[in-house]
Formats: sequence, C-alpha cells, structure tokens
Amino acid sequence: MPGRDRTCGRPQPTEGPPTRLTGSADGALELVRTQEILRRHLPPAPAEVIDIGGGTGVHARWLTADGYRVHLIGLVAQHVEVAAATGSTAEIGDARALTAPDESYDVALVLGPLYHLLERTDRQRALAEAHRVVRPGGLVAASAIGRYASLFEHTATTLPSDAAPFEAALTAARLAEPYPEWLSSASHMLAVGRV
Ligand SMILES: C[S@@+](CC[C@H](N)C(=O)[O-])C[C@H]1O[C@@H](n2cnc3c(N)ncnc32)[C@H](O)[C@@H]1O
Repeated sequence: MPGRDRTCGRPQPTEGPPTRLTGSADGALELVRTQEILRRHLPPAPAEVIDIGGGTGVHARWLTADGYRVHLIGLVAQHVEVAAATGSTAEIGDARALTAPDESYDVALVLGPLYHLLERTDRQRALAEAHRVVRPGGLVAASAIGRYASLFEHTATTLPSDAAPFEAALTAARLAEPYPEWLSSASHMLAVGRV
C-alpha cells in the first residue's frame, strides 16, 4: 500500500521526509525494535506522551496513530514544524529545562538527546527533567549509543574509501579506553523504567 511500511507486522505511517530511522536498513531495524519494546511497556492509549528530542516526529507519528496524545520537544525549529504535522503538538525546547509542569505526562521518551549532550551533568539534568514531568507510575524511556557508534556508522555510510581517518580515530579511541577489548559497534540501547 503506498505510504505504508509493513516491516513491523502492522502498518506504519511513513508520511513526512525520510529520517535516520526510515532512510536505511539499520535505521528501519532500530525503529521496529523501539516500537516492539515500547509497545510492551506503554500504558494503554490514550495516554499522554512527551517525546523529548523527537526530531521530525518519527516516533510521534506512530504513537499518534496508535491513539496516544503526543507532545514533542525539539531544538530545531524546522524539525518542530514538520513534527507538528504528525497529529501531535510540538514546541521548541531543551531537554535540560522543560517547560512542562511536574507530573504532567504518563510517558517521557528521551530518544536522542542523551547522546548529543556531551557533559555528564547535562545528561543527568535531562534525565531528571524527564523524571520530573512524569506522573507516579509512569514511564521514562531513554536511549543511548555505544562509545564508538558514531565512528562506525559514519565510516560505514559517509567516509570515502581512504580508511586513514577512521584508523586514526579508532586508534585514539582505543588508547583512551581502559578496556579496549570491549570495543563495540553496538548502536542504540534503549532503557525503559517506571517512575
Ligand atoms: C538522533 S536524533 C533522534 C530523533 C528521534 N527521537 C529518533 O529517535 O529518531 C536526536 C534529537 O535530539 C535533539 N536534541 C539534541 N539535544 C537536545 C536537547 N538538549 N534538547 C532537546 N532536543 C535535543 C536533536 O535536535 C535531534 O532531533
């Protein structure tokens, strides 16, 4: 059916521009796994979801189609504009200082900001904010990436055939690592916790 993606066994709306999760095979896999895991834990719809760092609304889109009331927070005005067309509401905002009142949502998604925030204290603030805005008994779902995920992903998809920059970066990363044998290309990890 045009405009539909059946990769996860049920129709997924694919309207809107291609994103990280719809424009590549590993992105599609991440989307399907995120949906599977979240659907296992989400309260029944309708429930109120704040999608913090929701980008152009890739998750807001299917959550809205599933009957959830989604409010998306994004840093980039153009993303927020696209997201607002998914059927959710959207505003420009920072994961570290949400405008939402305490205990105002059933679910907080933090699928992205943590690996854009390089300082540990910023990541802690973002997680504390997600926790603050969720009602007791609600859910916080946060994603992280492995230390080397960007290096591998961008090398696989964008670097030219000259491997020297990759080798140099990898060597530096290995030397900085206390346990180099733990080197992993693992990309996204999703943690779901109840408040
Ligand atoms: C890799 S994208 C993920 C988008 C979407 N949640 C997903 O899973 O595909 C990371 C998103 O986090 C946003 N972001 C980064 N730092 C943020 C911050 N401090 N507050 C809010 N959003 C932030 C970026 O603008 C971007 O849209």
